[in-house]
Amino acid sequence: FEVSWDAAAADKGGWPSFMAKEVSEEPEAVAKTVLGRVKDGGIVIPELDGLDELFQGIDRVIVLACGTAYYAGLVGKYAIEQWARIPVDVELAHEFRYRDPIVGSTTLVVSISQSGETMDTLMAVKEAARLGAKTLSICNTQGATIPRESDAIVYTHAGPEVAVASTKAFVAQITALYLLALHVGRVRGALAPSVAEESIDELEALPAKIQWVLDNEQERIEQLSHWMGDTRSVLFLGRHVGYPIALEGALKLKELSYIHAEGFAAGELKHGPIALIEPGQPVFVMVPSPRGSATLHAKVVSNIEEIRARGARVIAVAEEGDAAVLPFADEVLRVPLASPLFEPLIAVVPLHIFAMGLATAKGLDVDQPRNLAKSVTVE
Ligand code: AGP
Repeated sequence: FEVSWDAAAADKGGWPSFMAKEVSEEPEAVAKTVLGRVKDGGIVIPELDGLDELFQGIDRVIVLACGTAYYAGLVGKYAIEQWARIPVDVELAHEFRYRDPIVGSTTLVVSISQSGETMDTLMAVKEAARLGAKTLSICNTQGATIPRESDAIVYTHAGPEVAVASTKAFVAQITALYLLALHVGRVRGALAPSVAEESIDELEALPAKIQWVLDNEQERIEQLSHWMGDTRSVLFLGRHVGYPIALEGALKLKELSYIHAEGFAAGELKHGPIALIEPGQPVFVMVPSPRGSATLHAKVVSNIEEIRARGARVIAVAEEGDAAVLPFADEVLRVPLASPLFEPLIAVVPLHIFAMGLATAKGLDVDQPRNLAKSVTVE
């Protein structure tokens, strides 16, 4: 019984690939993850009702995940530390498990998993529970193994993610981490009402800002990716919350187009990676908003000058209207204005589009990249 092409196409809603469909659903993934969790001007995650005491009793958070989910955790760390004022360590699940971790009853282990079946993450969660930690699962699959093994669950509502490369689940995971940070911050009395209000406004404005990128930049990014079809290596630079996005952009490019790609903390350039810069080397640079930290913005602009002086081909992902990057960037991919902590959820979208475009230009299967599975259920 052959599934006809039309039937398969119908599954993709007429999109050329599941990945294209899922990138188009990134705004909705954020909106649906927020839905029902804003009440009386505050963040209330109904699934966490009755756990206030648990959240009041913890003194540290360890985030465990793999791959893209791990990068979501690296972004979430900034929000949990800023809004809930609890120290956060983000670890690769498969490393955590074998390092004799110091974990106790006042540790909250937050696992992040789209499938909820990743064996590395599941085994790490079980080890953490054995050591006495409380466990909370952020998951996109109702009733999956990892949520079932956890003390608490915050589901993302990105909808089924079919393409092996995770896109909409990634932005939904960061959204869920922000909601958790705001919820726990409120419960612990660490969150000023004005900060809660501003954050909720930003969360509710996110879907439209992501949609803006899809409407105004997607075509240009796809053209750029086609021009770069014969690229052999791409570097990604970012600072602060932009650094995990640089790592995510590199992973997407690797897993979809099979070319070498690497993400670096921009501050690391002088400590080694700048040796990789040679004439024509494409480098994506995640430029923070000048309205956030002027210092961070200035440092990233000077990083761009350093690599441009050595012949790099600079593709800057920068806030619309940021004129400082124009003299030094070969391309500027624009994103709408947002508060610093919310930039990553928007700035990652051009990188998802670019990776998909370059793989398409190379005639590769963006939904089923070679050697990869959607859920790694073996260790
Ligand atoms: C992401 O594009 C990859 N497919 C992979 O890194 C994935 O994020 C990782 O295997 C974790 O999967 P999970 O979220 O289902 O646990």
